[in-house]
Amino acid sequence: MKEDDVYRMIATQKPGKDHPLDPAEGPVSPEVQRRAVNPPCLGDIPVPDGYAHVTGDCGDSMEVFLGIQDRRIREARFDTLGCGFTLACGSVAMEKAEGKTIAEAMRIEAAEIAQALGGLPDTHEHCAELAVETLKKAVQDYLFRGKEPWKKLYRNR
Ligand code: FES
Repeated sequence: MKEDDVYRMIATQKPGKDHPLDPAEGPVSPEVQRRAVNPPCLGDIPVPDGYAHVTGDCGDSMEVFLGIQDRRIREARFDTLGCGFTLACGSVAMEKAEGKTIAEAMRIEAAEIAQALGGLPDTHEHCAELAVETLKKAVQDYLFRGKEPWKKLYRNR
């Protein structure tokens, strides 16, 4: 998703409870606001070593793309059809994952994401859970594909 798309998505969200950064849902931290309009690590990796696409109960979805060498995450990118909180959570999750071993990445918790953002409204805690779940599924995909590396070229994204 390009930066223009992010602005368009935020601009076209309905006001009310579906608005991505609706102040009625509680205070929105400056860090969430910053990342919602300019999320670091938004993008993809053309031929990832690990990949996952997860749709949460709310209907929002996230994709995670991992570049992994020697069982360490060298590059982590995400894309989402989700709200501003999801953009913020995805970007923090990717930054936390980069440089970590896959074992360390599997221990990243949703609470850490929320804390790094200065807190999330109760109604958007699941955005952090979606980011963490998608990251962990991408690591699992890497482990699964590692047994049959040739399948990486035939991945159905
Ligand atoms: S509102 Fe569901 S993931 Fe953000």
